Amino acid sequence: MLSEERIALEELRKTVREETERRGRPLTACVVTFGCQMNERDSEKLRGILLAAGFEGSDSEEADVVIFNTCTVRENANTRLYGHLGHLNSMKREHPDKIIGICGCMMQEKDEVEKIRTKYRFVDIVFGTYNIYRLAAVLNERMVSGKRVIEVWDKEKGIVEDLPVKRDVPWKSGVNIMFGCNNFCSYCIVPYVRGRERSREPKDILREVESLAKDGVIEVMLLGQNVNSYGKTLDEPMSFAELLEAVCKVLGIERVRFMTSHPKDLSDELIAVMARNPKVCRHLHLPLQSGSSRILKAMNRRYDKEGYLALTERIRAAMPDISLTTDIIVGFPGETEEDFEETLDVVRRVRFDSAFTFIYSPRTGTPAASMPDQVPQEVIKERFARLLDLVQTIGSKQSLRDVGRTLPALVESVDPETPGRVTGRLGNNVCVHFEGDESLIGTIVNVRLDQAHGFYYIGTAVL
Ligand code: SAH
Ligand code: SF4
Ligand code: F3S
Repeated sequence: MLSEERIALEELRKTVREETERRGRPLTACVVTFGCQMNERDSEKLRGILLAAGFEGSDSEEADVVIFNTCTVRENANTRLYGHLGHLNSMKREHPDKIIGICGCMMQEKDEVEKIRTKYRFVDIVFGTYNIYRLAAVLNERMVSGKRVIEVWDKEKGIVEDLPVKRDVPWKSGVNIMFGCNNFCSYCIVPYVRGRERSREPKDILREVESLAKDGVIEVMLLGQNVNSYGKTLDEPMSFAELLEAVCKVLGIERVRFMTSHPKDLSDELIAVMARNPKVCRHLHLPLQSGSSRILKAMNRRYDKEGYLALTERIRAAMPDISLTTDIIVGFPGETEEDFEETLDVVRRVRFDSAFTFIYSPRTGTPAASMPDQVPQEVIKERFARLLDLVQTIGSKQSLRDVGRTLPALVESVDPETPGRVTGRLGNNVCVHFEGDESLIGTIVNVRLDQAHGFYYIGTAVL
């Protein structure tokens, strides 16, 4: 943490203490997250700062301070935020002391900030993705001056280490290994709102993983928009495969995952490291986006259909039991019926365990938004339904493949619906419900998978 941020945190702590005394009760704060794991992790840092400043954590939007950490990857993410804001406006009329903040990816878009500035005047603080660590300073300024504070930077600065963090669960944690993205896929807004790719120093990452392990974490997820290009910008370059192997060596860490892999940068070295390290989960999320080489080119993905298929074959040859999942966009500009058939063909050949399917959403400022031949909504909807059907049929057949096997599951909760049962997560991220009690939470248990039910299994603990 920078020394100015320590000072800001100290000042906020003083303000919160005074305000707590004035109101005669603790002040509460809630962070609402939209978007991906990167945003989830940022929210844990925001909560860390708020708790360190003396707020009491809350899950309710009725809290004294509510911060929305926004996503803008598709239009519906934006629509959801405005839905919440409408609701909060009426709450604020009844409680004028309430403080509402917005940060995250959407606030890196000038038009959105302008809209908040002029039409959502009840929003008190606004900051962006590059300065989340400024929360203490920005919030304190608002609390002391009573004036709204809008502080958005248009460019990334260095990486700030050692922010306080409040993890959602004690036994697993995300770990940022890099920020930003340099790929500029033609449909995607992330590079514009998260800035250029920059990797954390391996020593900082390992120090964080070691301290998480000491704190009881047994599973880490290494996070980046394109983890396969980790380390390229470091003074002493290091590959993602090397980093992954080093993380596996940390004592106490039993499981390692990572998100997201870009097919163009997935090396044979990485496949080999995964195959020889049992701590690495047998799961790879490998976004396909489209199965048509022509569309992939227009998307600027820099691989083609054959390259993707060959890659998945190499991965399966090294790890026959691996579970492959993916992201697919339907209705990219110019997508014809033949292009879409190519996508279905890849889905049939690769047999993904599951797939996130998205309707193409034009994002202002991206090249695809101004491409000709935008696909009509009714065509997209019809294709989307066909794709979803295929993905689900194949996914549920794939899950039968593991019935009868005994696999390790990390127990996450007691099953709220069936007393005497717990829910664990397998290496491939699928849930299994089995008999057990809450003493198992946060531990890894070997579970025989008895029945597959599409998105989950019923199993029996093998002790
Ligand atoms: N960095 C990751 C993905 C980040 S965004 C990667 O490259 O794979 C998560 C997913 O959202 C993407 O994989 C893509 O399928 C989807 N997505 C991104 N922009 C989109 C858009 N404009 N419309 C629809 N889906 C989009
Ligand atoms: Fe977006 Fe492509 Fe970067 Fe993923 S790799 S974040 S899809 S630009
Ligand atoms: Fe959304 Fe930002 Fe993640 S736009 S998907 S929250 S990087």
